[in-house]
Amino acid sequence: MLNEVEKRLSFNEQVIKIVEGKTALLVPKASIESNIPPKIPAFYNPQAKLNRDLSIFIYRAIAKKLSRHVRMADSLAGVGARGVRVAVEAPEINEVFMNDLNPIAIDYAKASAKINGVYDKCSFFVMDACHFLIKHSSSKDRFDIVDVDPFGSPVPYLDCVIRAVKDKGLISITATDTAVLCGIYPEVSARKYFGYSLNTEYCHEIGIRLLLGALAYSAMRLDIGILPLFSHSTKHYIRVYATIALGARNANKTRDSLGYILHCFNCFNRKVSSFIEKNCDECSATLRFAGPLWIKGIHDKDFLSYLINNIELTKECKKMIINSLNESDMPPTYYIPDKIADKLQLKVPRSIDIIGAIKDKGYRAIRSSINAKGIKTDAPSSIIIEIIKELNKSM
Ligand SMILES: C[S@@+](CC[C@H](N)C(=O)[O-])C[C@H]1O[C@@H](n2cnc3c(N)ncnc32)[C@H](O)[C@@H]1O
Ligand SMILES: [Zn+2]
Repeated sequence: MLNEVEKRLSFNEQVIKIVEGKTALLVPKASIESNIPPKIPAFYNPQAKLNRDLSIFIYRAIAKKLSRHVRMADSLAGVGARGVRVAVEAPEINEVFMNDLNPIAIDYAKASAKINGVYDKCSFFVMDACHFLIKHSSSKDRFDIVDVDPFGSPVPYLDCVIRAVKDKGLISITATDTAVLCGIYPEVSARKYFGYSLNTEYCHEIGIRLLLGALAYSAMRLDIGILPLFSHSTKHYIRVYATIALGARNANKTRDSLGYILHCFNCFNRKVSSFIEKNCDECSATLRFAGPLWIKGIHDKDFLSYLINNIELTKECKKMIINSLNESDMPPTYYIPDKIADKLQLKVPRSIDIIGAIKDKGYRAIRSSINAKGIKTDAPSSIIIEIIKELNKSM
């Protein structure tokens, strides 16, 4: 059977072999040649390499920490880019399960597993992802790590994935419906993610928090808590990693991690609260809100330190992890100086000067890992405004 698959793919001029990380992958030629990778005959996105690199490092760290027989499931595997790479590049992981509704994608995954010599470490399924996950929901069949990487929103899979992961196991999730999560369609966000999105300058962080919130709601109903380990975002997608912890006490703790972000579009003031408040403390203007969403940390300091100290990371991934570690105990949201300067009709000072001035006033400040122009700080917006005005005097 595998020989047939191999033959079919190896004599097909539409198939090419590439190398990603330390793994050889057979992929449709069109996915390398066109700007937008086609879904037919099977999906492979070369631009998601960084996303996959990060996941491999994080899975390795979790597997090392779990120090047990570890089973990873790539529930929407495409051509198996992530799953096959895990089988090759994560020696801490003992078994890899790859599933996709598209049988051609799974043929690619099988052939790639074979050429890398990891076929025996892998199992393959052609099913709807929820069906696949529920099939593995009884306690003896659950996975230690499950990835959910659909086209668009992952919400149809959240209930199923929670049931298919063991206690202390990890779930990684990608969402590409960023227009919904970043405040273009707040009502759709409320319907799908249980919380309203809001189109602020830090909307990508709101998106991360809404996705974690939706995962929390799915988990809590089942007396399960979640603990976010790491989150990141680009223009095209949002990605979160969270472990789950069984038990009502953990679920209660998760419940306490949900609330609202309140934002004043008049004076840039923002606030985290367990309830919706009407007026801005600073200027009395009407506050807008995002949520309910995850209001606690989106990176786990201990885990990220463990990751850096125990797994050899690529330069790019290490930089991202260190940035996230450094901001892990900063309050939610960040400021974009351009936005403030624009509203005040002033010039935009250099971020480095703003960060220096914030620190001089006794507050903490750091560049945001989510937005290169963003500044995370515990200083109130009135201080940032004051600093931008002050710096403009010498510009
Ligand atoms: C974004 S791609 C996955 C990419 C892959 N994880 C990677 O890193 O290369 C989404 C995949 O989901 C598959 N798919 C779509 N609906 C599905 C469903 N209901 N169940 C299982 N797979 C599905 C598609 O065939 C496609 O391969
Ligand atoms: Zn205000």
